[in-house]
Amino acid sequence: MQLPETLRRAIDELASSHDVRTLARASRELTASYQSGSLSSPAMDSAEHRAAYLLVRTPATYAACVHALRQLRDVCPDLSPSSMLDLGAGPGTAAWATSEVFPSLATVSAFERDPSLIEMGRRLMVASQNSALSSARWTQGDLRTKLPGDDFDLVVLSYALGELQPGARAALLNAAWQRTRQAFLIVEPGTRTGASTIVDVRRWFLDNGASLAAPCPHDETCPMAAGGDWCHFAERIERGSLHRRLKGGELGYEDEKFSYVAAVRNPVARASARIVRHPLHRPGHLQFTLCTAVGLQSQTVTKSQKDRYKLAKKSSWGDPWQAKSE
Ligand SMILES: C[S@@+](CC[C@H](N)C(=O)[O-])C[C@H]1O[C@@H](n2cnc3c(N)ncnc32)[C@H](O)[C@@H]1O
Repeated sequence: MQLPETLRRAIDELASSHDVRTLARASRELTASYQSGSLSSPAMDSAEHRAAYLLVRTPATYAACVHALRQLRDVCPDLSPSSMLDLGAGPGTAAWATSEVFPSLATVSAFERDPSLIEMGRRLMVASQNSALSSARWTQGDLRTKLPGDDFDLVVLSYALGELQPGARAALLNAAWQRTRQAFLIVEPGTRTGASTIVDVRRWFLDNGASLAAPCPHDETCPMAAGGDWCHFAERIERGSLHRRLKGGELGYEDEKFSYVAAVRNPVARASARIVRHPLHRPGHLQFTLCTAVGLQSQTVTKSQKDRYKLAKKSSWGDPWQAKSE
């Protein structure tokens, strides 16, 4: 997956005032800060760090949001949000992703603590042809205190909930859910810690009357977490030449792992299973690991199951699947 061309060009222009060596150092420091998992380490505390975030992290968080929003849209085909709130927006990544997946989007509100990121996000969005983005309303504020007073069709919290102390998270979920008219999506890194944050959010949703939409195909105990594993998905990101230089890598791509959960106000019909690992392609058959209401299951689809096999070949890690008893 790639960033939209307009966003990619606007990022290159914003980052062009920094030399590559400084950006590469800032990129390493960002990675170290995120890997340390420390909630108090200020990851984006200089112009170089913010520029490095745009170049190396925004393509990844954008791809994660697009993946999750597409899965949400597939489960809720009638969902066509006109307004969205991007919480802990950073440069507004989730809003860009929403405008990609939902052409119905007419108004964007972005909420962020850091005034420099707000300024950056505004400059990027002004470059967009999409009027929801170019007219976005930015609010500076703290997720732990007061959110915008309006209601929104869609609320997204992308790679931000995990930056709050665990004790502050439930109050934020409550405040954000109160402002959600239709759907609320939370995305976190696909690490053990990120996935465990998502399991907590899932529990919160179920305890507070929300209906799970994706990725969970059921409301039973998460079988991944129960088995000591962690539920996550992946998107392949194309790396441009500057991205490769900043990361010091040769590969033209990287895989972003992420965890997410999306809930809606009204119950929806879900497929009975979700593919939770890369399918194994074997001669004459395919093997899926599926999350189902009765736990993790392995299912084989053979060439002889013609239509089902055709569909299976097009299905990937993260897609829904209609499980059949074997
Ligand atoms: C890792 S960045 C994610 C940015 C963007 N949502 C994305 O997915 O690329 C986390 C963002 O959350 C913001 N943030 C963290 N704690 C916050 C708080 N208490 N109030 C408001 N924003 C906060 C940070 O300033 C940062 O922009």
